[in-house]
Amino acid sequence: MDTRLNGIHHITLCPSGAQEDLDFFTVVLGQRLVKQTVLMDGSIPVYHFYYGNADADPGSILTCFPYSRRPGRRGTGQIGVTSYSVPVGSTPFWADHFDRHRVCHTGIQERFGARSIRVTHPAGLELEIVENPGDSRRPWTTPEISADVAIRGFFGATMSMRDIEEQETFLVHALRFRKVGVEGAYHRFEIPNGGPDRTIELLHEPDRPQGTWTFGAGTAHHIAFHVDTDEALVEQKALYEELGYTDTSEVKDRFYFHSMYVRSPGGVLVECTANVPGGFYVDETPEELGTHLNLPPWYEDQREIILRQLEPVVVPEANRPRPGSARPKPTVSVPPPAAPIALSRTKAEFSKAH
Ligand SMILES: [Fe+2]
Repeated sequence: MDTRLNGIHHITLCPSGAQEDLDFFTVVLGQRLVKQTVLMDGSIPVYHFYYGNADADPGSILTCFPYSRRPGRRGTGQIGVTSYSVPVGSTPFWADHFDRHRVCHTGIQERFGARSIRVTHPAGLELEIVENPGDSRRPWTTPEISADVAIRGFFGATMSMRDIEEQETFLVHALRFRKVGVEGAYHRFEIPNGGPDRTIELLHEPDRPQGTWTFGAGTAHHIAFHVDTDEALVEQKALYEELGYTDTSEVKDRFYFHSMYVRSPGGVLVECTANVPGGFYVDETPEELGTHLNLPPWYEDQREIILRQLEPVVVPEANRPRPGSARPKPTVSVPPPAAPIALSRTKAEFSKAH
């Protein structure tokens, strides 16, 4: 069967405080702040931070809504763990590094033959680094994290499930993953010709209560997989509907990409994205990426109202772009669709005060 998904595009989490989130992802995990913008849904201004590797590759982009106004509840029906790929042999460095930063971690573990460490974000979110050979993606580096140990991008994600069967059916038939193994309560799936950013695990936790689906501090919100074009996005939507997963969204204009969502049977919100010309570089040069708050043009007239309600943040000095750290702007070319594709654009009226 044809495989249209290219892998994970991004994973979106709801941490709590904006500055503690920035510090964790940039200083502790050594990620590059790729974009500062705002959540497009709802009428309350909330930051939307994008973190990634040196080239802001799809498959490295972790995005965060710092949602301190309401706690979420972690549980089943959610992404439980977001996993990053690191070079083989680097876990001892990471254990020491996490100790130095006094962040809670599990120490070195092993699953499916690979060493890993699970680490806890200040908001309680769980992330993981997994040793993975031959990952050639270009890492972002910091004074503390050199290229020989730095994160390359995603390895995958673990979804926490009360039941496995229906989510497995969704992964195999709607997303075209194949099951590659079971180890204890972990069921592993890969996109054919898999590798980094193409692995999903289902963790069977039949007795764990369901987690929240709302935006809520301390919980994962959704995962996105990418296809190349809007037409492929529409084909994916049609596949969902053909299979009976009919609660799909319209195709939405997210400015840096186009999106379509469906609620998977196990509870996890699944997005698919398609490229737009320019991608993350549509409003910033490679040297500027992530250094300013950017709004989609249709929100610019509300910039003052939005800014007034966001807590000021500072990107740690050591994480800012340096001469030579950014490559020239990559070309993201997208063939025009044969027929126009209707796009939905969220245009919230942000409230003046909360
Ligand atoms: Fe998303």
